[in-house]
Amino acid sequence: MLKSWEVISLVKPRFPVLIELAPSILSADFAHLADQVERATAGGASVIHVDIMDGHFVPNLTIGPPVVKSLRKATRLPLDCHLMIENPDEYIPYFAEAGADWISVHQEACRHLNRTLHLIKSHDCLAGVVINPATPVETLTEVLDIVDYVLVMSVNPGFGGQQFIPGTLSKMKKLAEIRAVRGYNYRIEVDGGVALNTVGGVVLAGAEVLVAGNAVFGSGDPKANASALLEAARSASLLRV
Ligand code: DX5
Ligand code: ZN
Repeated sequence: MLKSWEVISLVKPRFPVLIELAPSILSADFAHLADQVERATAGGASVIHVDIMDGHFVPNLTIGPPVVKSLRKATRLPLDCHLMIENPDEYIPYFAEAGADWISVHQEACRHLNRTLHLIKSHDCLAGVVINPATPVETLTEVLDIVDYVLVMSVNPGFGGQQFIPGTLSKMKKLAEIRAVRGYNYRIEVDGGVALNTVGGVVLAGAEVLVAGNAVFGSGDPKANASALLEAARSASLLRV
């Protein structure tokens, strides 16, 4: 007799799969942000990932709505704002007004997750929910029907350039299986340690929107880096069965 997860794993993923690269500007040269974003875009990036940290939810501080507003003028790509902050409801309107297209909040930071996701949607942004490496997919059961995307953190949030945590792959897989079984439409995003040596694995596990900071902006040319990562991701997606 098959266990329930074994039955679910027999369900085939959806085709065709649209793989997108979302470079994280966290590792970019902030003094040349527009140029860096342009180089990554030339390499095939189609979403720009913006990490917002408040020094409370995560042990680091980054940027706020003014930088999002400047970025909005520098690129036509969707701005994917990943809020690693406490009390996100307070700031969502400001990020939306500054030009965010996608806004994601952490399950761990939201006391009223359903309300927060609806707040994001009320500002005409795509609504995403994020889970830390230690948070199970099951904590999202009651919101999977309303989210536009689920972001699986594959490092503990707070810093770029960390090591990918392989145990998070099973969460991407599980999200793909739940989506297929229940007919949901969310996309699966992965964030943390995505590089040439890990990108194939995340794509095979079901991730479609690939955030990469260090691998795009850490060293060398962001255009060449983005294009190599996308090529590796697309070849892996052909192996999905
Ligand atoms: C980590 C951030 C990530 C980070 C990823 O807290 O959410 O977006 O920039 O960086 P890499 O790809 O360097 O792990
Ligand atoms: Zn991020």
